[in-house]
Amino acid sequence: MTDLYIGMMSGTSLDGVDAALVRFDAAGRPELLADHALPYPDEVRAEILALQPRGGDELDRGARLGNRLAEIYARAGRELLEKAGLSPAQIRAVACHGQTVRHAPHAGYTIQIGNMARLAELSGIDVIADFRSRDVAAGGHGAPLVPAFQQSVFSSPDERRVIVNIGGISNLARLHRGLPAIGFDCGPGNMLMDAWCRRHTGRPYDDDGRWAAGGRAHPQLLAAMLDEPYLRQPPPKSTGRDLFDDAWLEGHLAALPAAPAPQDVQATLLALSARAIADAILRHCPDNQAVYVCGGGARNGALMAEIGRLLSGQRIAAIEALGLPAQLIEAVAFAWLGWRFDRRESGNLPEVTGAQGPRILGALYPR
Ligand SMILES: Nc1ncnc2c1ncn2[C@@H]1O[C@H](COP(=O)(O)OP(=O)(O)O)[C@@H](O)[C@H]1O
Ligand SMILES: [Mg+2]
Repeated sequence: MTDLYIGMMSGTSLDGVDAALVRFDAAGRPELLADHALPYPDEVRAEILALQPRGGDELDRGARLGNRLAEIYARAGRELLEKAGLSPAQIRAVACHGQTVRHAPHAGYTIQIGNMARLAELSGIDVIADFRSRDVAAGGHGAPLVPAFQQSVFSSPDERRVIVNIGGISNLARLHRGLPAIGFDCGPGNMLMDAWCRRHTGRPYDDDGRWAAGGRAHPQLLAAMLDEPYLRQPPPKSTGRDLFDDAWLEGHLAALPAAPAPQDVQATLLALSARAIADAILRHCPDNQAVYVCGGGARNGALMAEIGRLLSGQRIAAIEALGLPAQLIEAVAFAWLGWRFDRRESGNLPEVTGAQGPRILGALYPR
């Protein structure tokens, strides 16, 4: 059996799938061998968004979209292996997150679609998937799952660290020696900024935060959004498009006496994302020393600068400083979860997800 895994993450940003080819040593330390990103076609993104609300024969549409996603994931794996000059037989497993369309741990379920049987059929590689359900079954949120990987790989004996992942939603993991790990979703990351930018400029995201940087945050709008109860709720907690969607933003805009300029709304959304992260760190990790940022949001210079301003005195760095590319942390983390599954070792941190105990996460679809 080889020790090569492909981790695949397709997150709430709906930008596409990130695939990472990873080798693990006996201690579970990852070595990134190759990576590949495959963007979702516009109609796939639209179909995922259309599945977030209930209704309209969603079971049939979800299953058909699951087939389409399996084809995209299979192609991402194929192209990744071409880059690396390897064949499917050399890979132990694909660990695939799938695409979240509903996240309802309070109702006892979370749904990531993607026809994993089809992915196994198309790829000729064992597929491990459905990582979140077992944690939810054990009373947890099923999220965030990445902190277990981050604790295993990024802990330091002499620096009190927080790892922040800025995807569609932002989440953090506290890695302080002698204290239990905590990790939770802070609030909106790129999701609201992406949607607003797409609507007003036609571009999928605000490159480096330049558009937002040319606007001014609207104090009243920012204050109203920061009043969102989720932001004050104690962890464990997780969130997604179910809460921070266009309707949430529209509700806040409609409550203002006059509509702000679109660019000022973008600046406000950037300020909101930065505040949600910085407030969470100040509240839950008061004596923190360093913040390492991963996820696509690490490429948003204006957002990074605003977080740095709010956390003056702490070291703020992209996670590259710890040896892995920001955009691939989650894909590598899912490869790691696959490696844990193979060893029948737990993948969750109960203190993070709120589950009753450690659980082996995932389900196997043999090649
Ligand atoms: N150059 C950039 N400038 C600003 N934002 C960026 C840049 N590159 C990526 N992003 C942001 O990162 C997002 C993708 O991040 P990702 O970590 O893949 O999130 P998810 O896990 O939710 O899919 C994009 O949607 C975009 O908002
Ligand atoms: Mg992504």
